[in-house]
Amino acid sequence: MFLSRPFIRNLPNSRSYSDFVKVVEVGPRDGLQNEKKIIPTPVKVDFINRLSETGLQVIEATSFVSPKWVPQMYDSAEVFKQIKKVKGVNYPVLIPNAKGLEKAIEVGAKEIAIFSSPSESFSKKNTNCTLSENMERMKEIICLAKKSDLTIRGYISCIIGCPYEGSMKPAVVAALASALLDLGCYEVSLGDTIGVGTPKKVKSLLSEMREVDDLSKFALHFHDTYGQAIGNTYTGLDEGIRIFDSSVSGLGGCPYAAGATGNVATEDLLYFLHEQGLQTGVDLNKMVQVGHFISNQLEKKNQSKVGNALLTKETLKKVCV
Ligand code: HMG
Ligand code: MG
Repeated sequence: MFLSRPFIRNLPNSRSYSDFVKVVEVGPRDGLQNEKKIIPTPVKVDFINRLSETGLQVIEATSFVSPKWVPQMYDSAEVFKQIKKVKGVNYPVLIPNAKGLEKAIEVGAKEIAIFSSPSESFSKKNTNCTLSENMERMKEIICLAKKSDLTIRGYISCIIGCPYEGSMKPAVVAALASALLDLGCYEVSLGDTIGVGTPKKVKSLLSEMREVDDLSKFALHFHDTYGQAIGNTYTGLDEGIRIFDSSVSGLGGCPYAAGATGNVATEDLLYFLHEQGLQTGVDLNKMVQVGHFISNQLEKKNQSKVGNALLTKETLKKVCV
């Protein structure tokens, strides 16, 4: 189904007059963090450089977390230093504490992402601290980041459900989003970490978020564990969201959310958005090639349905060089 101009115009926030959707590629961070096979630094660099050629505006490049917790991210400083920084592309990095921020500043990061959740249990598993301790850490990070003129994106995980505590209350998620915006995040990404969201639940959450701020401040970050991500994206668009996170070839998952599978595949998201008559500025064919490149490197099946449907001999030749 094609989104008609009236449909686009009638979307309820100011950005809805635009038919442009910003796609935030999180494959190099969210995608790789869950992979057991350690990828050599040059491959990560090549991966990000290939993504930079697709027309994306934002590529979350890595995370400066403890390698004791997330071994795949052991080389984040080297990766960040070595990637080609293409003009017009932002390369945010995920930061859990002041130590991570220091490392990111040392290598010249310009944008960071901080993260929280509405669940006490998830906070302890993911960051080894309570929600209020994590709030103090985020305040410290933000204060230091502002001194270095960094821009700050916020994440909220488990927006619909938590692997340890079950359903989350939209009002609690909304209060946390409000706090992150007040602290100085320019945008808050709402993460359905374990993919339990459905259109009805997403709609109910977004009506709560509308009370917090204009929906142009929010991104949706769907994991596709239950195959609901594209349906949820449709609901998000209908409600006025114009920023979506995704991961090429559907890589990903959170190491602290057992059973959570990858993010919605960027190829699937792009195909859907373009077919709806929306613009992203991203070349789907190039993205398909990157998806097969990284799947080959990881020696795993590409999880993108669109990526597999569009696989041609030409694509295979391009990913093998
Ligand atoms: P901790 O063990 O309590 O930290 O972990 P610590 O301060 O006691 O330090 C332990 C060791 O780690 C020390 O080393 C520190 O130096 C080192 P040692 O002295 O033993 O040799 N360390 C660090 N090293 C490098 N960089 C750092 C750093 N900090 C400490 N920044 C900590 C606390 C927060 C560090 C840990 O729990 C951690 O790294 N957690 C991150 C977990 C993670 O990355 N989870 C996935 C990201 S969130 C996500 O995926 C969800 C999202 O995608 C949205 C969604 O889908 O919902 C965003
Ligand atoms: Mg995620």
